[in-house]
Amino acid sequence: MASQLRSCVRGVGAALPAHVVTNDELARKVDTSDEWIRQRSGIAQRYVAGEGETTSTLATRAAEAALRNAGLEAGDIDLIVVGTSTPDYTFPATATQVQANLGITHGVAFDLQAVCSGFVFAVATADKFLRSGSNKRALVIGAETFSRILDWNDRTTCVLFGDGAGAIVLEAQESDGAFLSPGVISARLRSDGRHRAKLFVDGGPSTTQTVGHLRMEGKEVFRHAVGMVTDVIHGCLADAGCDAKAIDWFVPHQANRRIIDASADKLGIPREKVVVTVDQHGNTSAASIPLALDIAVKDGRIKKGDLVMIEAMGGGFTWGAALIRW
Ligand code: UT7
Repeated sequence: MASQLRSCVRGVGAALPAHVVTNDELARKVDTSDEWIRQRSGIAQRYVAGEGETTSTLATRAAEAALRNAGLEAGDIDLIVVGTSTPDYTFPATATQVQANLGITHGVAFDLQAVCSGFVFAVATADKFLRSGSNKRALVIGAETFSRILDWNDRTTCVLFGDGAGAIVLEAQESDGAFLSPGVISARLRSDGRHRAKLFVDGGPSTTQTVGHLRMEGKEVFRHAVGMVTDVIHGCLADAGCDAKAIDWFVPHQANRRIIDASADKLGIPREKVVVTVDQHGNTSAASIPLALDIAVKDGRIKKGDLVMIEAMGGGFTWGAALIRW
């Protein structure tokens, strides 16, 4: 096959706030219980950012960890894409703060806002920059502090989310384009703005001039999630000319254990190939997939040569999937 560029994973890293909040602690503040939260969502605990911990500080720590894991220096990076819906400020972009924190003064850094699908959208976007030849190495980051946009009196949402950040380094490498060769093989992105009211934040600079709080019709989101993500996954598999049996590791967005299980079942992916971290982190929105990748790489599950499917669905609605040969 003719030579082409592919975006290959060089490293992965993650960062979590210092403070853990258990379900029992939440049950002392709102009318809920450890049993309800575990049964309905699979969540046992979540990390919550404290003083001095922001989306950009978590993103910077995750980026530094990914660079160490890749054996690279900050100066090797010429593209930073941060998927986030909880930036430190309305502007400038969190990505430019990460760029400055890393001491990088060349290249380009920008944020990408696709809520829980943010990391998949960021991977797909960085992949296009790298494959075009315009950039050589990208830090692709998902970073969030959803604790700062939660209504802590609303038990239907405040028990579900947490804070954190994860990052991967993608590098443009010459490739023969074969199915077994490393890199991003396919990515599919979708959105449909008609679903805004099912998952949104009720504030913003141009409307209320406040940050606002997350509002969600959980049941409605649940109802759409499985069909939407399995649709884009089938698209990626078709692009690659393989079926779900070829997937070594399924790393879904971590919103709800029941959504993860239902999606895996519908695709015929056995549970032992599914990476689950929602129990430890809760739903960290754009950070959930890179946090899960970091755990599964570092504990030895995801190895070089493995076929990894990532997927997410979130506010907008937005949804997407990417198939990556590690
Ligand atoms: O990241 C992408 C976006 N987010 C998601 O993907 C989340 C999608 N949705 C979900 O994960 C689930 O719908 C939830 C976990 C949010 C809720 O699970 P559910 O099985 O859909 O429960 P429900 O909303 O139907 O609520 C069942 C009951 C209700 O009481 P009634 O009306 O049956 O009397 C709720 O009021 O549970 C009640 N409830 C709670 N009870 C204790 C809702 N929240 C709580 C709570 N503790 N925290």
